[in-house]
Amino acid sequence: MSDELARIERLRRSHEAQRWPSHPSGDAATDAGSILELRLAEVALRLQMTRDDSSVPATVIAIRHGLQAHFSFEESLGTEVFRKYGGDSFVKALLQEHRELLSRLDQLREMAADLVEHPQQSREGVAKAFEDAIALLKRHTQLEEEVLEKAENDLRHKAN
Ligand SMILES: [Fe+2]
Ligand SMILES: [Fe+2]
Repeated sequence: MSDELARIERLRRSHEAQRWPSHPSGDAATDAGSILELRLAEVALRLQMTRDDSSVPATVIAIRHGLQAHFSFEESLGTEVFRKYGGDSFVKALLQEHRELLSRLDQLREMAADLVEHPQQSREGVAKAFEDAIALLKRHTQLEEEVLEKAENDLRHKAN
C-alpha cells in the first residue's frame, strides 16, 4: 500500500473509531466522539435532567483537548492530501474551521460555567450554542470525509 493511501486510512480511522467513544484509539478524541459528548451535554442542559450542571464546563474542556489533538493530527498528516484532492481554498477553509471550532468550545465552556454560577438564568441560549457547534463540527467532518473518500477511491483505482 502506498504511503499516501496509508495516511488516508489513518485519517479516516480517526473519524471512524470515535463513533464508539469508549473504543480505544491512538489518535485521541476525534470529531465524531466529540459530537456525541457535546450532544449529551446539550441534552443535559436543555432537558434539565439534572439540577447539577457543574460537570459540564469540565466536559467541554476535555472535548476541546481531544478536538485540538485531532486537529493537530489531521493538519500534520492530512494537509497534503486535502490540498491535492480538495484544493488550496478547501485547506484554507478547514484550517479556519479548526480555529473557529476551538473558539466556539471556549465560548461554550464560558457559557456553561456561567450557568453553573447562575442556575436560574434561561438555558435556551446555551443549548442553542451547543447545537450550532455540533452542526458546524458535523458539516466539517462530512466535508473531510468526502474528500478523503475521493482520494482513497482514486488511489485504489490507480493501484489496480
Ligand atoms: Fe478537521
Ligand atoms: Fe476531522
